[in-house]
Amino acid sequence: MTANDLFFQRKQAAAVLKHGVLMRYPPVFATMTGSTSDGGRVVYLDGYAGPGRYEPEGDETIGAPGSPLLAVRSATTIAQWSRDLHCIFIERNPQYAENLRRVLNEEANAGLNFDVLKGDVQDQLNEALALVGKSPLLTFLDPFGTALPYEAMTEQLMGRDSDLKTEVLLNLNLEMVWRIGGLLTGKESDPERTKSGSSATLERIDAFLGGDWWRETFTAARESKEPGSAARAAHTVATEFCRRVLAATGFQSFSVPIRRRPHHPPLFLLILFYRHQAAPYQFNEAVSGANAEWREHFRQADLSEDLERRRNEEDPDLFGEDLIVTMSEQEANSIEAKLEDQWVATITTNITTLLDKTSALRIEASFADIYGKTLGLAREKHLRRAWDQLYDAGLVLKRDKAQKIRRLTINRVI
Ligand SMILES: C[S@@+](CC[C@H](N)C(=O)[O-])C[C@H]1O[C@@H](n2cnc3c(N)ncnc32)[C@H](O)[C@@H]1O
Repeated sequence: MTANDLFFQRKQAAAVLKHGVLMRYPPVFATMTGSTSDGGRVVYLDGYAGPGRYEPEGDETIGAPGSPLLAVRSATTIAQWSRDLHCIFIERNPQYAENLRRVLNEEANAGLNFDVLKGDVQDQLNEALALVGKSPLLTFLDPFGTALPYEAMTEQLMGRDSDLKTEVLLNLNLEMVWRIGGLLTGKESDPERTKSGSSATLERIDAFLGGDWWRETFTAARESKEPGSAARAAHTVATEFCRRVLAATGFQSFSVPIRRRPHHPPLFLLILFYRHQAAPYQFNEAVSGANAEWREHFRQADLSEDLERRRNEEDPDLFGEDLIVTMSEQEANSIEAKLEDQWVATITTNITTLLDKTSALRIEASFADIYGKTLGLAREKHLRRAWDQLYDAGLVLKRDKAQKIRRLTINRVI
């Protein structure tokens, strides 16, 4: 059994954040882009779909939903708002593809449109794009290792006519970059380096990242060889990758680090490539909600471990469990409230600093600077609080509560 086989046997902690984003963002993309498309049709293309569900864990009779099930559930929800989210799935593993068809047939409401294409994403891409036609398209690429070759992503997906609404969500495996990058910087005697497959492995990354430029970038960034430098070097490579995509296609990017545990180095970067100015703002809303869910996931995991440890003590205090659960919830609420207060304070400072240089701040255009370090953590409700505090302090004009906040401009009191 390979590590990849094991992937679907246990929903990874990293999948909590990824799936949290996938539950939230595609419906927003479909709602926004479908308003002008024929029959409200929008396409979600999942290039590395998997079997649809994870294997059941523990007492579960049914496993956690994988990305395809989340997509068809979104499609069902947004059908109420006259949006037809057509889902296309590509899966290379024949058994997974079969399983996926079965799971989707069991789950999807009658009348829901989906296609499962069995085979390599690279070979199936033209057929998938023919099914997409001119509809708005959100593509999700979530491979185990390297994804589509660079040209396929930048020319076939991002190269769609610029009038067509197109976004790509790539789950970039940083751990793979730093492990394979180790082939470049390891000792001559390192067995990894002399493995016959090592040059083929490096070439696979070259194809994905669009050339061998990353080898030098990685090696230079890895120079210090300090602990954590490989993870940082992989991050540098990812940043340069996004810069190159921007230069080649005009697609900007918004990256979300995905960690196994808080304070661990990110294992993945979930990157949204977009053209439309509203995209990063909406994506941030999705990421912030997913991040809250992710923090709660770890609290629950720590709590279960704690309870389990207490049960195994010589003199277990089982009656205290309810109290421990309640205290953990109260503590979590207080930690969350403190975090939110800190975010609001940071946003307030950022707005004040920005308004030192200009008298008017368009939210949609400047939202990354407005959120600053809280990007991906804070969202609209925190921005609203910050604005209201600044208004109460007499520093900015009142916000128009009848309008969508992302379309507003914060005006300084002269
Ligand atoms: C990380 S898993 C996908 C997990 C899924 N997105 C989820 O969240 O539930 C990657 C999947 O891509 C499939 N795969 C790998 N290489 C592929 C390729 N070249 N074309 C299509 N599918 C591929 C694997 O069989 C595996 O099922």
